[in-house]
Amino acid sequence: MRTTVGIVGAGPAGLLLARLLHVAGIDCVVLESRDRAYVEHRQRAGILEQGTVDVLRAAGAGERMDRVGLRHDGIELRFGGRRHRVDFPALTGGRSVTVYAQTEVCKDLIALQLAQGGPLLFEAEALAVEDADTDRPRVRFRHEGVEDVLECDYVVGCDGFWGVARKAVPAGTARVFERTYPFGWLGILADVPPSHDELVYARHERGFALLSMRSPSVSRLYLQVPQDTDPRAWADEEIWDELTRRFATDDDWRLERGPITQKSVTPMRSYVHEPMRHGRLFLAGDAAHIVPPTGAKGLNLAVGDVVTFARALTHQRRTGSPALLDAYSQTCLRRVWQAERFSYDMTTLLHPDPGATPFEGRLQLARLERIASSRAAETDLAEGYTGFAFD
Ligand code: FAD
Ligand code: DHB
Repeated sequence: MRTTVGIVGAGPAGLLLARLLHVAGIDCVVLESRDRAYVEHRQRAGILEQGTVDVLRAAGAGERMDRVGLRHDGIELRFGGRRHRVDFPALTGGRSVTVYAQTEVCKDLIALQLAQGGPLLFEAEALAVEDADTDRPRVRFRHEGVEDVLECDYVVGCDGFWGVARKAVPAGTARVFERTYPFGWLGILADVPPSHDELVYARHERGFALLSMRSPSVSRLYLQVPQDTDPRAWADEEIWDELTRRFATDDDWRLERGPITQKSVTPMRSYVHEPMRHGRLFLAGDAAHIVPPTGAKGLNLAVGDVVTFARALTHQRRTGSPALLDAYSQTCLRRVWQAERFSYDMTTLLHPDPGATPFEGRLQLARLERIASSRAAETDLAEGYTGFAFD
């Protein structure tokens, strides 16, 4: 098999890249190790920045998002029993975010790719990216039990944190920057209307809690739990009891309960692999960087990377100049590090660290008070949350 761009992985990064290349008239092949149902139902992110919404729309993938996505103009911060709303449009000159789940973004992009785009092979596991530093990189893969080779002009590794593409970068040429956190998130989906019409980020002495949603009838909620927690260790009523404690306010706000349909634990990690390119292999999305989920940046960063790659390759084809491809890593990393900073700030602002001193606990409250009382501090949060510009 031969193609211009070999894409490893059909998560949001790989699927959107395939769509952007299709729109630009550049052929590609997507290899995905899992089956279609798995990719379409894996519960993950839920918040799209304005820039992500604009990109999906411009790529012709925004029809259902515009119909059923929920525009959100703010979030609520909750601490010490008090509530503070952050008004995004007022603080950012009109920007907002959209609640539309990653599962739905993937469903829309898969349907478009299968109807209009090039090959998208499910249950096709990439085994290795080879010859990345030549002008004929290759992906060795196994599909339906048979090994094959995809010969490419470029390979884009969109295969997530556990993928194989990053392994093709020789250790001596890369640097990794990493931090782990001593806690994770227990996430649930529940068949109950969200108890608040905007997201609620709660800092409580017992731990962080987040109220989000998937639709007007489905809630998505998260609890800070110790690292390596087994989700089965939490009975449904225990989860609701703990959420109720952490969201408690001084007024008559109530958390509604309903049947829990899914439960899982997400670890928390910050990770950046520099550079994001080796020869003709480009890394995009979680294959190159991870943020802790607080502030919902992971999916949006993946979108920024593939937009940057598609623009750079289109530019090279139109003008013959490789300048934008050569700048790919640098261009992406500027935005990546702003998102790393923002996600780290949100995480350390809202999660009591089990090893922290009482002094650090008071500092968290002081940082929250500052956001609630200073327009400058609040604006910084609103700008970060609604997203950093695509270069
Ligand atoms: P992925 O979505 O990981 O996609 C990579 C794809 O590559 C997968 O489909 C995988 O099956 C495939 N693949 C892997 N190896 C191979 C191979 N060898 N050959 C072929 N295909 C391969 N972000 C938020 O903003 N909010 C959240 O609540 C949130 N929750 C998360 C929960 C979990 C458990 C995880 C892991 C991430 C979460 N994220 C969240 C982050 C967000 O979902 C990711 O940033 C986003 O999925 C990145 O997209 P991606 O396409 O780069 O990678
Ligand atoms: C969701 C996840 C996040 O990490 C976040 O900050 C907000 C919402 C969600 O899954 O809905």
